[in-house]
Amino acid sequence: ATNRTFTMIKPDAVSNGHIGAILNDITSAGFKIIALKYTHLSKETAGAFYEVHKERPFYADLVSFMSSGPIVAAILEKDNAVEDFRKLIGATNPADAAEGTIRNKYAQSIEANAVHGSDSDENAEIEGNFYFSQLERF
Ligand code: CMP
Repeated sequence: ATNRTFTMIKPDAVSNGHIGAILNDITSAGFKIIALKYTHLSKETAGAFYEVHKERPFYADLVSFMSSGPIVAAILEKDNAVEDFRKLIGATNPADAAEGTIRNKYAQSIEANAVHGSDSDENAEIEGNFYFSQLERF
């Protein structure tokens, strides 16, 4: 079924000049942009977004990294969106990301890994709602 996922282009990929290339990869793969925003996260907002990882050893670093510079947030639509998007971006650790995936091409490290992709339909909904009102979606 047609459904949606949520993505962020993370601060590393934004500062390395990859916004255009990544959006091109995403739309070329058949994803339709439903909502799009260039913005930034405060430490508080990043902490809230990544609340589920609060107990993980990398949480503090992740929150500082994600609030270190601007990001691009988007809601994307496609058949099988969550799973297909995770295939397009590749493994969390770019060292393990398949050739040609977004993280293989643009990511630096497991933390500075260029893009976020929701891991379930339920989280896609929650994460999209975190950034976008109904009026900001088409
Ligand atoms: P993301 O899919 O955005 O959600 C959680 C993020 O934590 C993940 O991408 C990684 O960028 C980041 N992270 C940093 N260190 C680790 C780690 N050791 N294991 C998993 N994720 C990590």
